[in-house]
Amino acid sequence: MMSQHRLADGRVTRPGSINLFKKVFAMSFTDHLSKVFSNPFKRVSTMSFSLPDLPYAYDALTPYMSRETLEYHHDKHHLAYVNNGNNLLKGTEWEGKPLEQVVVGSFGKNTGLFNNAGQHYNHLHFWKWMKPNGGGKIPGRLESKIIADFGSVDKFKEFFIQAGVTQFGSGWCWLAVKDGALVVSKTPNGENPLVHGAQPILGCDVWEHSYYIDYRNRRPDYLKAFIDNLVNWDYVDEMFEAALKK
Ligand SMILES: [Fe+2]
Repeated sequence: MMSQHRLADGRVTRPGSINLFKKVFAMSFTDHLSKVFSNPFKRVSTMSFSLPDLPYAYDALTPYMSRETLEYHHDKHHLAYVNNGNNLLKGTEWEGKPLEQVVVGSFGKNTGLFNNAGQHYNHLHFWKWMKPNGGGKIPGRLESKIIADFGSVDKFKEFFIQAGVTQFGSGWCWLAVKDGALVVSKTPNGENPLVHGAQPILGCDVWEHSYYIDYRNRRPDYLKAFIDNLVNWDYVDEMFEAALKK
């Protein structure tokens, strides 16, 4: 007969029932973990592109970037790059590879895949390169490097804005690390500094979908608002530190 144990409050319990409860709980938890890690769909989905949530509310960047712009830009445009990229990735040599490898590897070899993978990479970071109440003080080591390589923070801002203004048609302007130095550049469409042997640490989307609702044709005003009021310098600094280690 199963032994019993009287608790301090007078209730009677059987140790076997406690052990059974522990065993069932442990089994279901272990079973749950094994399903998560062995589920083939889960494994495939982590290797394909997926749309991240914005790291802030849709109206968090007003008045510099509106809810309407972010809803269209994130929910429609970025989602399209994710979906098209996943379709074009299927059956290629880059299926299952990390995103940076897909971007660099497909450049000049598979234009459709490159355009969408490049834009996915660019937008993943673009959302994080901005924050509410952005701009302001640049972390010390990065600020010193900007001053050393461009002369002053204001000079850097001038070069960055000028790169964005002079990018003809759709594209991006960049701050990147190349051969240990900071460089400002511009690229068309979905291109980025990765394919030119540099590590991007800040980029601004100058496709019209990024500013036309809020600024119409005033791209210089959008770029100035971006650099003065939106940039998340902590994230730029994080990418700067990572780039120095590569
Ligand atoms: Fe965009």
